[in-house]
Amino acid sequence: MSSIRTERVTGVHHWNETLFSFTTTRDSGFRFKNGHFVMIGLEVEGRPLMRAYSIASANYEEELEFFSIKVPDGPLTSRLQHLKEGDEIFVSSKPTGTLITDNLLPGKNLWLISTGTGLAPFLSIIKDPEVYELYDKVILTHGVRYLSELAYQDMIKDELPVNEFFGDIVRDKLVYYPTVTREEFHNQGRLTDLMDNGKLTSDLNLPEFSLEDDRFMICGSPAMLKDTCAILDARGFKEARHGNAGHYVIERAFVEK
Ligand code: A2P
Repeated sequence: MSSIRTERVTGVHHWNETLFSFTTTRDSGFRFKNGHFVMIGLEVEGRPLMRAYSIASANYEEELEFFSIKVPDGPLTSRLQHLKEGDEIFVSSKPTGTLITDNLLPGKNLWLISTGTGLAPFLSIIKDPEVYELYDKVILTHGVRYLSELAYQDMIKDELPVNEFFGDIVRDKLVYYPTVTREEFHNQGRLTDLMDNGKLTSDLNLPEFSLEDDRFMICGSPAMLKDTCAILDARGFKEARHGNAGHYVIERAFVEK
């Protein structure tokens, strides 16, 4: 059994009426790999109510960051969305997860395929200098319904490229591909369709997916995962399983029903 620690909320940012992010203090003994998730929660009716959340901050950062949906009648998120600086929050001491580069076979292009809050683990990964050493290109995709859901654009487009330690490599290797399905935008359509019809690779001037060069991490809703896996499976890509490295790894975006 993992133990639960109490951390303190250090900041809250509301992106729109359905999405928000918050930061917390981090216990000095709390270690994780970029891409991991952890159980977090609040005390509800005298007991901890915990849900899995991907850690959006990188493992060298002083604070922990989480990106969450607000579900009006969600047992946890209906409460979490009212968090304020100084509030206490539970964080379990055992982060884990499959979205880590160790699980992938060597390759040239790392595709981070996300929809909605499935972006969260990839925010941690794109801040990891070691990831850029492993790949020629790191392509962060984010599929959302509405423009206002394209969270973290400033960090991705403006802040990381000028990071004092690894901005150079980010400018060289990180590619950002947001796409919107229910409003006008320069990229439109579901990521699954854009992968299947070749538009994603052609828009980015990259070759068609190949078993030798392309590796994928996928995080989104159960339906999105199923459809994305089907596209990759049909092309012969193999999921990493049971400790065997593969061409792709998946994790469900932890959306509360
Ligand atoms: P759409 O607007 O066509 O439903 P959600 O908030 O429902 O998780 O959706 C986030 C984004 O993921 C939306 O752009 C949505 O497109 C898209 N999406 C939903 N289901 C799938 C799926 N099965 N495969 C790919 N993208 C999906």
